[in-house]
Amino acid sequence: MPFLDWVNKTQAVQDAATVPYHLLQFSQGYGEPNTDNMLIQGDNLLALKGLLPFYRGRVKCIYIDPPYNTQSAFEHYDDKLEHSQWLSMMYPRLVLLRELLADDGSIWVSIDDNEGHYLKVLMDEVFGRKNFEQPRKYFHANVIWKKRTSPDARLSLGAAHDNILVYAKDPDKLKLNLVPLSGEKAKNFKNPDNDPRGAWASTDFTGQIGHATPNQFYTIVTPSGKQFPPPDGRCWALAEDTFYKLVEEGRVWFGKTGNSKPRLKRYISEVEGITAWTWWPNTEVGHNQESKKEINALFGSDSAFETPKPERLMQRILQLATNTGDLILDSFLGSASTAAVAHKMGRRYIGIEMGEHAQTHCIPRLQKVIEGEQGGISKAVNWQGGGGFRFFTLGDPVFLPDGSINPAVRFASLAAYLWHFDTGEPWQAPTLNTVELSRHSGMDRRNPDCRDATNPRHPWSLGSGDPNAGNGKRRKS
Ligand SMILES: C[S@@+](CC[C@H](N)C(=O)[O-])C[C@H]1O[C@@H](n2cnc3c(N)ncnc32)[C@H](O)[C@@H]1O
Repeated sequence: MPFLDWVNKTQAVQDAATVPYHLLQFSQGYGEPNTDNMLIQGDNLLALKGLLPFYRGRVKCIYIDPPYNTQSAFEHYDDKLEHSQWLSMMYPRLVLLRELLADDGSIWVSIDDNEGHYLKVLMDEVFGRKNFEQPRKYFHANVIWKKRTSPDARLSLGAAHDNILVYAKDPDKLKLNLVPLSGEKAKNFKNPDNDPRGAWASTDFTGQIGHATPNQFYTIVTPSGKQFPPPDGRCWALAEDTFYKLVEEGRVWFGKTGNSKPRLKRYISEVEGITAWTWWPNTEVGHNQESKKEINALFGSDSAFETPKPERLMQRILQLATNTGDLILDSFLGSASTAAVAHKMGRRYIGIEMGEHAQTHCIPRLQKVIEGEQGGISKAVNWQGGGGFRFFTLGDPVFLPDGSINPAVRFASLAAYLWHFDTGEPWQAPTLNTVELSRHSGMDRRNPDCRDATNPRHPWSLGSGDPNAGNGKRRKS
């Protein structure tokens, strides 16, 4: 298979392996303290490497929206790299992301035409072109997101869309969900009686008599007292007992006046949805103006982030690629759109952002989410607030220049690193005890730091919540 080459590619290929492991330094918790959600401020090359011993193969869905290399200098980050430098920036990060991805996981990468076609070739190399060669068996897609509502009048052929390149870690294991009903189709579902189960559409309650049983022939009395025997040549769809149980549960509709022939309610939440395809119009998943409005509402137009993605776009990706409780990773977090949407949808998340806006935008945005802000997808998912996240920065390197272990590394982290280096697996704290670890890694149990392990749920849970800590209580958030 032909590969892309560029100046300093050899160095870029080595970077993922040679970049030093750094500790992740716990700084502060926000909201509910017992949370897996993490926001990390720092260069994602170091942060991703630092996550490997704990999360290798555990991330269900990665979404990234890297700088597109538009040669612009945005207020919050620079988007101006020489072409080869951009490729060198992306390559090792994609390699580390692949390592973090679960076998049944998928990676989704937003990009435009500045670097999109080069990125495709790069991702073929890192994630496997076989995904492209056998589309029936393997999974690979280039989603077209129509991001604008009208052409840019300044350009003679302006771009209407972004690409989202999608790769599976193992196409045989990836199973995407259906797209929940929305848009035109969802318009048929209404809620005239304020049913707490949400919007519904009514369906016929009669059946064919061919396979009917005797208890499907009865006279129905409506709430207004009107009587309905089965229509000529038909029976009722269900037996009498079952019918009146559904009436009790409020699942039968007799019309606004309670006087009509009964119809069954079919809830939008119970309709399975439709199969996704690669054409995502802005009417379904939002557009750039929508995301600008969302971010302006959060921060005011003067200090808004310039290139946010709409919450509905993130929602679509997470609906397809994840289920409640799954772990999401975004290592180019920007204004934290992915984390905010993951939080509202009940997913766990790790977000990495190197700019100051990790503190000026990401933290406040996620705090607002915890407080129950009602922008973006909040109303659609009935978001009421709650949950929490923990903020980390990059800490010391794990190894000193002479190769010895940095004394700042405490037991919890050390255990995870040794386990990871020996087994190639992420730390499995619940099943691992000190004896197993010392036998496995030849670790010196006479070292008091090695004796104070207490079967943590995972290393962050030991001590103060600081991944470097070995004892003590979690800091109060
Ligand atoms: C296009 S923006 C992401 C926007 C985001 N999807 C949103 O909805 O707000 C790209 C982000 O990647 C960040 N970034 C660029 N290089 C990075 C690196 N090496 N490590 C961490 N973040 C980085 C930039 O600071 C910028 O915030």
